[in-house]
Amino acid sequence: MTSLVEKSKKICAYAAVDENLKPNHKIIGIGSGSTVVYIAERIGHLPNKDQFTCIPTGFQSKQLIIDNKLNLGNLEEFSKIDIAFDGADEIDSNLNCIKGGGACLLQEKLVADSADNFIIVADDRKSTGVLGKGWKKGVPIEVVPNAYNKILNELSKIGGNPTVRPGTPAKAGPVITDNGNFIIDCDFGEIPVADVKDLNSKIKAMVGVVETGLFVNMAQKAYIGNADGTVTTV
Ligand code: 5RP
Repeated sequence: MTSLVEKSKKICAYAAVDENLKPNHKIIGIGSGSTVVYIAERIGHLPNKDQFTCIPTGFQSKQLIIDNKLNLGNLEEFSKIDIAFDGADEIDSNLNCIKGGGACLLQEKLVADSADNFIIVADDRKSTGVLGKGWKKGVPIEVVPNAYNKILNELSKIGGNPTVRPGTPAKAGPVITDNGNFIIDCDFGEIPVADVKDLNSKIKAMVGVVETGLFVNMAQKAYIGNADGTVTTV
C-alpha cells in the first residue's frame, strides 16, 4: 500500500512538471532523492519526452534518467539548463533550502546554478519555515577528506555541532561522495531566515570546504505535497 508521504511526493512532483515544463524547454536538470523519482517518471510518460536532454546530479539520478528512457546529457556538454527539479531536506519561508541528505549536494548545486528555473519538490514535512527545525539534523557540508578534522574544529568555533557522516554497515568508514569527498553534517540549531546567507558564506570561506548544502536564494518555486492530497505552491 502506498503511504501518505509517498502520495505527497508523487502529487507535488507531477504538479511541478505539469505546470513548469514548457514546449521550448530542451535541457532539464534532474535532482536526487526519493521525490525526484516521480519527476523522472512524469517526464518519462510525456509523448514529447525525446525533445529533452536530462542532466543528472549523481549516480542515482543518472540511473533514473536511464530507467525512464530519457536522453542523458552532462554539464560539460550542456552548461545552460532550461529548468531543474530537485528535492530538499528543509525549506524556509524565503525558499532557502537545506539539501544533501543523499550526499549529492555539489552536483545538485552545480545543476541548480546552471538552471534558468530551479523548482523544489517536497512533502510537507520539509516545509519548516525556518531551517534547522527538521528531523534530519544539520547542514551537510562536502569537504576534502584530509581537511575534515580542521573543518570540524572551525565549525565548532562558529557555534556548530559537526559530525562526519558515517557509511553503512556494508561500507564502513565515512560516506564518500560521487566526487571522492567526505560529508560533515553540522547542526546549527534553528537558522533565522536573515542569517542563512551569512552562515553559508562563513562555511564556504573555510579552506577545504568544497560546497555546502545551504541553497540560498536559488529556488524560484517550491511544490509542497500535503498529506490531505493537495499541493501548495510557494
Ligand atoms: C540529496 C538531496 C535530496 O534532494 C534531499 O535529501 C531530499 O530527498 P527526498 O526527496 O528523498 O526526501 O538533497 O542530496
